[in-house]
Amino acid sequence: MVDVARPGERIPIASDHAGFELKERLRVVLGALGYEVEDIGTHSTASTDYPDYAHPLSQQVSDGTVERGVLLCGTGLGMSYVANRYAGVRAAVAWNPEIAGLARKHNDANVLVLPARFVSDEDAVAILKTWLETPFEGGRHGARVSKIEQTNEQNGAVSPGSAS
Ligand code: RB5
Repeated sequence: MVDVARPGERIPIASDHAGFELKERLRVVLGALGYEVEDIGTHSTASTDYPDYAHPLSQQVSDGTVERGVLLCGTGLGMSYVANRYAGVRAAVAWNPEIAGLARKHNDANVLVLPARFVSDEDAVAILKTWLETPFEGGRHGARVSKIEQTNEQNGAVSPGSAS
């Protein structure tokens, strides 16, 4: 389970070209908050492919090298598609602080994905801080989160078409 803010923790951050400028801003914010930031790239506004940045960050979260990370692309969608293919990664696209808070409280989101073309810099900073500082509520949400990695059969769900 991801804990609340822990200054000194290493947090990787990555974006494609669409998220580059906002990444540069959030990198500074994370550093000012006391986190050790690992900037995976991209390092300019030159056109890039978002999976090239989502894969290395998601791998680190999945294998436990880090507890959490931050991804940015234009809509947040491409980055989240890649990240959520990794075991144990729960990547949440958040476009306001309330969504970011709920992604932590209810979903224990360990990757924050920002839709850089659809949030202001100020909102992005508020979203980031909320995600960093909001604890997971556990309880019934813990039971639900633990089912994410299970199969349909393990969850006792009825397969489509099998109900009589
Ligand atoms: C890049 O133009 C854009 O497609 C990308 O940043 C992202 O929004 C994809 O999901």
